[in-house]
Amino acid sequence: MAQKLILESVSYSYPFSGSPPVLKDVNLVVDPGEVICIAGRNGSGKSTLSQICAGLLFPTGGKLSYGGSRIKTRRDMSGLRKNVCLLFQSPEDQLFADTVLADISFGPRNHGLRGSELQAIVRESAEMAGLDIERLGDRSPFSLSGGEKRMVALAGVFALRPEILVLDEPFTGLDHTHREHLRESLARYRESRGASLVIVSHELSNVWPVAVKYGLLADGKLAGLRSRAEIAAEKDGISRLGLRLPQWGALEHELRRINIELDDPSDYHVIAETIRSYKEGQDD
Ligand SMILES: Nc1ncnc2c1ncn2[C@@H]1O[C@H](COP(=O)(O)OP(=O)(O)OP(=O)(O)O)[C@@H](O)[C@H]1O
Ligand SMILES: [Mg+2]
Repeated sequence: MAQKLILESVSYSYPFSGSPPVLKDVNLVVDPGEVICIAGRNGSGKSTLSQICAGLLFPTGGKLSYGGSRIKTRRDMSGLRKNVCLLFQSPEDQLFADTVLADISFGPRNHGLRGSELQAIVRESAEMAGLDIERLGDRSPFSLSGGEKRMVALAGVFALRPEILVLDEPFTGLDHTHREHLRESLARYRESRGASLVIVSHELSNVWPVAVKYGLLADGKLAGLRSRAEIAAEKDGISRLGLRLPQWGALEHELRRINIELDDPSDYHVIAETIRSYKEGQDD
């Protein structure tokens, strides 16, 4: 079960860059088991924030804590990395081994797993990531297509069994079937382990069916987390940030304005059924 991850007034400046801070006074609380989307335009600081959450970059200002313990030293950082794992924006930054199998096995092997237990976790993680391990297991990860590389990187992160998964643009490069599969796997992973998910994205439509709270990042500043309905009500503000409200988000918002609530706005059958019931109610 995940613990609470808290960022308090976190700032970050890249060393020797001579540029202003990339993150300024960022406050973020990731409660156990919740699904948060951090969205923002290119260069807004999403990947930097992801790396801070996962203990890969140390904040240059402010406080970071996990499970009530402050992260102050390099040792604390490596402790944090056991519980929080990052799927890098670019799979090439994550992959390193000679074969796909060796890459996915690396984490659980380091945790002491061997033999059938190791095999089982590798297979399960590959399946969760939508990767055909029978076909690709012996290939070099660097010889794979972009989408296949992302699936291997994802499987490697699932195999580490983190309590918090931070995913930096996880849908990039995946086709429709694999994106759908990933959304289902993330939901299953979260439910089975009580894990929290932080999904970072420059677009909202892929995340919309999964994320419950949204944090908008602009010029290194993170606005307070908001619900899907609150975000849907801010169409113009969203556009100003270079983002676009998913069509079904806009539709959900418009229907809510006339008191029609949708259980699942991403499912056209639910939309049609809800409107049919509404019409029947009007006709009576
Ligand atoms: N290693 C680095 N050294 C110096 N500046 C950096 C470094 N990495 C990123 N930056 C700068 O920090 C800012 C935020 O970058 P970051 O990669 O966090 O943005 P992002 O929101 O993830 O962008 P994208 O949507 O393009 O992935 C950018 O202005 C970038 O140029
Ligand atoms: Mg990025």
